[in-house]
Amino acid sequence: GWSMGNYIDIAVKSIREQVGNHNVICALSGGVDSSVAAVLVHKAIGDQLTCVFVDHGFLRLGEAEQVVDTFTNKFNMKLVHIDASKHFMDLLKGVTEPEKKRKTIGAEFIHTFQEEANKIPDVKFLVQGTLYPDVVESGTATASTIKSHHNVGGLPKDMKFSLIEPLRELFKDEVRQLGRELGLPEEVINRQPFPGPGLAIRIIGEITPERLDILRRADFIVRDVIKQRGLYNDIWQSFAVLPAAIRSVGVQGDERTYDYTVGIRAVTSSDGMTADYFHFPWEVLDEMSRRICNEVKGVNRVVYDVTSKPPSTIEWE
Ligand code: XMP
Repeated sequence: GWSMGNYIDIAVKSIREQVGNHNVICALSGGVDSSVAAVLVHKAIGDQLTCVFVDHGFLRLGEAEQVVDTFTNKFNMKLVHIDASKHFMDLLKGVTEPEKKRKTIGAEFIHTFQEEANKIPDVKFLVQGTLYPDVVESGTATASTIKSHHNVGGLPKDMKFSLIEPLRELFKDEVRQLGRELGLPEEVINRQPFPGPGLAIRIIGEITPERLDILRRADFIVRDVIKQRGLYNDIWQSFAVLPAAIRSVGVQGDERTYDYTVGIRAVTSSDGMTADYFHFPWEVLDEMSRRICNEVKGVNRVVYDVTSKPPSTIEWE
């Protein structure tokens, strides 16, 4: 009968036949789909695969390190880590409009990736973590018509590569099962969805290094509390946002402060198209609020977003 073990054997064989002696590249994001696709292709063709990890600097706390550690140390894969955070920060100076942020990041991401790909000889194939629902839905109107989604699965098809899409027949839960079988860490397998432009679209307003640092620390606390309370897998997405235009008055110790507000967003959903805000027990919100104000300098107020989608979207930008 059908099993994951079978699936791996068949996929490995067919990838080898498709690739021959050529080289293959893959854009890694740390997300589950691209990770599983990359490990599967690596199992088939080893060092003929080069993974390119374009780090735009808008990832969550510790995430870039985790990607590098997993693929280089655990799986011994060829990984090029491009730390382009300074460059992206410069490009986004003065940019506040959400679509402009997405387009700037998306275009530069592709440019950087393409440049790196050009350095590798005889690359003929590009790995994409396309899933079955993506195959079925492409062509119909989706949320992507409302926001111009940039994600690493969305590299343009007019690149000169042929595609390897080893997950094309699978649903998300099967991809997770496959990832487990291949030995990927649980952290990668159960990771909540994360938008391609990352924290850049969770700073409402201009991105500065200071704001990014504040958001990243607050975001880490949200996730940390949720994980400690055992709620992580009950939630589709949970994160912090920084509405950077707002400063409000507070008092900490004996001092008056005039600092940032952090918003907490957590939703349940089955596909991201609609979503309900998560009903946290009060003590969980309380813990997040206290920790954020105590541990993140520059924040004196925390609010919880109690809006579902529609009328809101999951992201604030
Ligand atoms: P919204 O905010 O439209 O988000 O309700 C729906 C889902 O899409 C994700 N999202 C993105 N993913 N690039 C991505 O790869 C993007 O530009 C982008 N914008 C939103 C969002 O996190 C949610 O899962």
